Amino acid sequence: MKYKLNFIDVELEKLKQNNLYRKLRYVKSHGAHITINQKKLLNLCSNDYLGIPTTKIQINQLQSSSRLVSGNDESYKKLEDVLSKHKSQESSLIYPTGYMANLGAISSIAKKGDLILSDELNHASIIESCKLSDARIIIYKHNDMEDLRKKLKQSGKSKFVITEGVFSMDGDFASLDQITEITEKLNAITVVDDAHGDFVIGSDGKGTPNHFRVSKKIDMYVSSLSKGLGSFGGYIASKNNIVDLCINKSKSFIYTSALPSFLVEYSLKRIKSNREKQRKVLENNVKRLSYGLKQIGYEVNSNTHIIPLIIGNEKAAIDFGEFLFSNGVFAQPIRYPTVPKNQARLRISVTAWLSHTDIERTLEVLDKAYQRFMNK
Ligand SMILES: Cc1ncc(COP(=O)(O)O)c(C=O)c1O
Repeated sequence: MKYKLNFIDVELEKLKQNNLYRKLRYVKSHGAHITINQKKLLNLCSNDYLGIPTTKIQINQLQSSSRLVSGNDESYKKLEDVLSKHKSQESSLIYPTGYMANLGAISSIAKKGDLILSDELNHASIIESCKLSDARIIIYKHNDMEDLRKKLKQSGKSKFVITEGVFSMDGDFASLDQITEITEKLNAITVVDDAHGDFVIGSDGKGTPNHFRVSKKIDMYVSSLSKGLGSFGGYIASKNNIVDLCINKSKSFIYTSALPSFLVEYSLKRIKSNREKQRKVLENNVKRLSYGLKQIGYEVNSNTHIIPLIIGNEKAAIDFGEFLFSNGVFAQPIRYPTVPKNQARLRISVTAWLSHTDIERTLEVLDKAYQRFMNK
């Protein structure tokens, strides 16, 4: 008889042959560093961009229930009020993760007969949520306003444009000034997932729309508390009626346990910390590293804290990452399906944890890597 799980091994083998196989590793993060297999490395993979110093909190009994049953305590209200203010929106709603916020929110407001325009580089959680909605989905070319304008003329009962604020794998900004001009003219609903811009970009870290001065034109924000804020969880911020509908329809909100309230308290404390000081340190670190990379010869197209070094071939990206690792720097190669095939890259995320010396050391290693892999 045929071994019934044969197809699983075939699939795994195919991933290995195409250099797309992923393996878990056990790590321990501490500030600017990470320890892997007892080796201490500089950490260029963290999404804890602001590096807010560790916050002490008390862990009480977990509520272990969905928020609509018995998992909703006062800390939620406090944090949601703060987040609504932070985004200048009427209301907000916390989900267990940013991934679940996308899944639940978009699928709650878009439905059959609607049209969704989604940027081709949008995050997997946006892609999945669009599919869950039953709306017609059209992908527009990355940040291409002509393509967006043309495709948004197609019919749909309600029309949505969904984009990231700072793109997670390229570090570039969505052209929110132009996007909102188009959506305003064509009466479309604008949804921005600002997981990577939130708390980091714009005045007081209010996010990418604030940087473009179009905050008032955004209909719904989706974001994560697990990146710039260095906490855990996801949320949306929007009008009262949209949030109300999400409470009533989001499966990833209704049918799952609430985020433990100690994490909600943790976010509250971190929001109230001196984020401005950390933002300044981060801004300087980004400037220093980008400048150094350009001096070496790297092409740097991002002007944010996410800096991709495009390698192309998947195997070459793995070799590049291993070279950095052996020289004490951790920056993981990002491959398909996270990015398109043959656009593998080292995604450097700059954090405020890095000191001047850490950045100099990083540049030394990246210089060696450039001479070895890129300067051929
Ligand atoms: C653009 C974007 N949206 C949403 C998420 C999911 O956020 P979380 O890690 O809170 O689930 C991510 C995470 O990488 C992301 O990059």
